[in-house]
Formats: sequence, C-alpha cells, structure tokens
Amino acid sequence: MPPSILLTSCVPSSVLTRLKTVGQVELATDHLTPAALQERVSGKRALVCVTTDRIDSAVINAGCDLEIIANIAVGYDNIDLAAATGQGISVTNTPGVLTEAVAELTWGMILSVTRRMVEGDRLIRQKAWKGWALDFMLGMELSGKQLGIIGPGRIGRAVAARAPAFGMEVVFASRSRETVVASEKPLVPLDELLVTSDIVSLHVPLKPETRHLINRQTLARMKRSAYLINTARGPVVDEEALNWALDERLIAGVALDVFEREPEVHPGLLQRSNVVLVPHLGSATHETRVAMADLAARNVEAVLQGRPPLTPVVQADTKP
Ligand code: GLV
Repeated sequence: MPPSILLTSCVPSSVLTRLKTVGQVELATDHLTPAALQERVSGKRALVCVTTDRIDSAVINAGCDLEIIANIAVGYDNIDLAAATGQGISVTNTPGVLTEAVAELTWGMILSVTRRMVEGDRLIRQKAWKGWALDFMLGMELSGKQLGIIGPGRIGRAVAARAPAFGMEVVFASRSRETVVASEKPLVPLDELLVTSDIVSLHVPLKPETRHLINRQTLARMKRSAYLINTARGPVVDEEALNWALDERLIAGVALDVFEREPEVHPGLLQRSNVVLVPHLGSATHETRVAMADLAARNVEAVLQGRPPLTPVVQADTKP
C-alpha cells in the first residue's frame, strides 16, 4: 500500500504531482477543527501543514504512524516539537526560499509607514484631499537614519542588505545564541539598539524567550520618533502595550504583518493613522509560495523514501 499523506492546503499542481509520486494524497483544506484534524491524521505517514494548523500533542498522538510533519513555513511555533520528537517524527520547515519575499515586504512596510502611504491612500479615497501643500503629510526620511534589526538570521540579514540603497546604517541585536554566529556585524545589546534606532524591525522566531519581547519596558526605550516593524510573529509584540505606547506617543508609528491573535487585531490599533496593517503576507508571492510548497513536498519525498529530510527542524531517529 502506498503511504498516505495528509495535505491541509491547496498546493500548485507540480507540487501535488510530486506528492502523488510518493504516496496517496488526502486533501483536507476545509480548516479542520482540532478534533477533525486528529481524526484525519490517523493512519497517515506524512502531514503537510501550514502555520495556521495547530499541531499539538493530541494531533501528534493521533498521528502515531507519522514519519514526517512538513510545515509549509519557516516558523514552526504551530508544532509541538517535543511531542513530535518523542514520537520519532521528523519535523521540517521551509527556510531560505522565502527570505527575499519577506525582506521585500519589510521594506515596503518601512516605506509605507514612514511616508504615510496607506494614510494618504485612505484620504484620497475618502475624497478628503485638498491638494498639494508644503507642510502636508510629512513623513520621516530614511537616508542617514539607523535601522535596528532584532534577529540577525537569514531574513534579518536580507533586510539589512537592502539598507545601503536607502542610505541607512544597520545595527543588529540577538535574542539567541545560535543567531549570534550568523551575523557579519558585531551585535549591540538590545537596549542600545532600541535607544539608538530610527526603525526597529523584528526578525526573531517565536519562542518562550521572544514572546512579548516588545512590551511596555522595551517600547519605552525607543525614540519617540522611531517606527516599529513586525514581520516575524505576532506574539513577539504585546499588542496591549503597543496600543498604550501609541496612546502615549512613545513611538511615531508601527507596521505589522503579524498579530497576536490572528486574524483578530487589537481594536485600538485599527483606529490609528500611524499604524499600517498587512494580513500576514510576508512570504505571499507566487514565486515563494510555489518554492515553499515544493520544498515541503521534497522533504516528504525524502523521508518516505528512507532518506534524511532536506530541511529538518527536528531530525527523527528512524521509526522502527
Ligand atoms: C510564515 O509566516 C512563515 O513562517 O513562513
């Protein structure tokens, strides 16, 4: 019997074809409840999932025949890694292929919030624009300013690589030892980055040590003229604290691609003109989404054919 594969999202036809060469694919794209997911994963040898699928210990226990959980995402905070490792299941993600897309979106958000592009668009559509004026809708120039990147991993460095084109200096800070070695530039302490940067951009994974990294204390350390950008994970920012900091005018503005309780957004943020909101589109280009799905499928192919996965987060010992 060919191994069965549970796939929770529609994927490009080339990717589906690849999966079908290694197993029997069951498509479950109707946003499964946790109970339904447990039921559907039973008896499957591979699970191909996305960041909105919560793969907790109950799902992993139900999927006791799983050999691989292939997440179509670079982040894997949706998966209970300890439970997967305990069951001897390989967990893979999709690093590398989405780096440029996320870096590009980050710059789009930096420009949107500092040059008030979304606010201006809204004004025009509301027919409220009265015409050009010397002092109208002024923003912050990037040239000569400092970009502070928290998280000098692949994406943080790709964002930094584009900074010279805008005449910006870059500093990095890290929250974890493994990213320290990835940085070409010396790291500065987080507090120094917060105090001196004009843009603070977040590129850390969601882990216990990064949850609410941006909170009342850290926001209060930022320049009042500075902007915060988050394309990492929503819970890295305490949205309640962010709303407070904007009320207190502790920072100039914020651009968010990710949120604490997606798809909900803190209601206080919705009303503000100095907040740019993007619906989790970091990797959302045609090119990147194909590459992500294809990498996940190649991981499944490798594991089901008895080879090591290409991009393991957790490399399981071979299942008996
Ligand atoms: C998307 O958010 C990802 O982690 O790839």
